[in-house]
Amino acid sequence: MEQIRAEKLVLGYGSKEVVRNVNFTINKGEFLSIIGPSGVGKSTLLMGVNATTSILSGQLQVLGKDLNAIGHRELKVLRSRIGVIFQGFNLVSRLSVLDNIASGMLHRKPLFAALIKHYSKQQYEEIYEYMKVVGIEAEALSRCDRLSGGQKQRVAIARAIAQHPEIILADEPISSLDPVSARTVLDTLRNANEKYGMTIIANLHQIDYAREYCNRVIGMNAGRIVYDGSPADLCQATIDQIYCCSPKKQEEKRQYHYPFSPAAASAE
Ligand SMILES: Nc1ncnc2c1ncn2[C@@H]1O[C@H](COP(=O)(O)OP(=O)(O)OP(=O)(O)O)[C@@H](O)[C@H]1O
Ligand SMILES: [Mg+2]
Repeated sequence: MEQIRAEKLVLGYGSKEVVRNVNFTINKGEFLSIIGPSGVGKSTLLMGVNATTSILSGQLQVLGKDLNAIGHRELKVLRSRIGVIFQGFNLVSRLSVLDNIASGMLHRKPLFAALIKHYSKQQYEEIYEYMKVVGIEAEALSRCDRLSGGQKQRVAIARAIAQHPEIILADEPISSLDPVSARTVLDTLRNANEKYGMTIIANLHQIDYAREYCNRVIGMNAGRIVYDGSPADLCQATIDQIYCCSPKKQEEKRQYHYPFSPAAASAE
């Protein structure tokens, strides 16, 4: 089932074009990563799906809504169907893990119950399930400002899952994490993808993780999509094309990729 369709899409800020003339469709249940050098428009594209960045021209359909023609109310409903995991976590630091995760359920709770932080037994059980999914249940009552970066990231994911979104947008969910925490976070996203059928779109800087976890990779350079396909087909030449523009940079990249492998270097 198609969830997102972009046609000749141009996104940007004011009159500045950042994402240039891209075309793609994304189906329910995909685990897709967007890779590419810093500043090429990955976050701009990701946040375009949530209608946070402006469409300068072209079409973008998300969950059956045309973002060029969407009204304020409809946009609010659409955003409740899309979970966002920000790089900076965006948690409420003075609230507990439990309350932060519960805030993901706000759109499904009466306002008064939300204000006094009243949760039904069923909601407690649900929150507990999400805490177990991300492995943070031991910290349920800890304030979020007392957690490590990896723990905060897991709470942010649990909050997004608690929203019951159809799509999760994750902007560099593992940057700043150690390899073990990074793996836990990606395993959690994979779990949300497989267990709840949520579509995951994540900006990643680590190609190895994209290869291991995703079933599709979009490579961007200078605002354009230069690769869209399976991680298995992502060869070194394509990676060079995504990450480099000038021959000098290509050479730097080649050396960076094969610093300890004379065999690979001489085979080039
Ligand atoms: N709010 C904004 N207003 C104006 N320009 C912006 C804004 N946000 C981003 N840009 C510009 O848009 C371009 C793409 O930025 P974007 O954040 O999408 O890149 P990115 O690929 O996500 O980079 P990174 O890997 O560093 O996160 C950059 O030139 C950036 O300066
Ligand atoms: Mg970014």
